[in-house]
Amino acid sequence: MKVLVIGASGTIGGAVANAFDAAGHEVLRASRNGDHKVDIANPDSIRTLFESVGKVDAVVSCAGAAVFKPATELADEDLDLVIRDKLLGNVNLLRFGADSVNDNGCFIFTSGIFSQQPMPGVPAIAMVNGALESFARAAALDMPRGVRVNAVSPPFIKETAVMMGMEGGYPAAENAKAYVQVATGSETGQVVFPGP
Ligand SMILES: NC(=O)c1ccc[n+]([C@@H]2O[C@H](COP(=O)([O-])OP(=O)(O)OC[C@H]3O[C@@H](n4cnc5c(N)ncnc54)[C@H](OP(=O)(O)O)[C@@H]3O)[C@@H](O)[C@H]2O)c1
Repeated sequence: MKVLVIGASGTIGGAVANAFDAAGHEVLRASRNGDHKVDIANPDSIRTLFESVGKVDAVVSCAGAAVFKPATELADEDLDLVIRDKLLGNVNLLRFGADSVNDNGCFIFTSGIFSQQPMPGVPAIAMVNGALESFARAAALDMPRGVRVNAVSPPFIKETAVMMGMEGGYPAAENAKAYVQVATGSETGQVVFPGP
């Protein structure tokens, strides 16, 4: 498979790109500063990306901005950022990229644990994660040519925990296996929850 990974330089996306690579797939690594340049918050940038990469079998997005603030402290700019970047950015990948995905190909979005199991300070990211999961479930029903749409909802990742000086978390490499399973499987309209 030819797999376009967006956010491929990140903690989750880097492990996902490596997992597809290790499984023998061709991987195109994209991000704002990556081999293939894209800013998902900019619709024209997404259109340009798909024009430049041509046809692919899977679009795997591991990109999306997060804002950690209590609900009562969220500013207009915070909400605009998460909606324009993580939510509409991923929605636009599907809108502008559908014709670039081969028959029976797939989209995989990355939502996150906070949509289902929030903690204080995460309402903005919980909101867009939940919306992205709902979009994946519903958009799957509209796709032509056998194209599948799913979301992976990672738990708190071990490497992220280490960066934050915390303990615990699920290894990014283990989390990445779920993406390869979904891309090579047959499910659609699902939210997949990796974890121990
Ligand atoms: N880490 C966790 O514990 C965890 C758990 C559950 C869910 N999530 C979700 O998973 C996603 C990825 O998290 P992460 O921890 O891997 O983040 P990360 O390490 O900060 O990596 C983000 C990746 O996305 C790219 N990126 C950021 N903004 C972009 C944009 N507007 N357009 C295109 N690419 C962009 C970055 O590269 P450039 O800077 O080159 O663009 C980088 O490759 C986030 O949506 C996060 O909410 C994370």
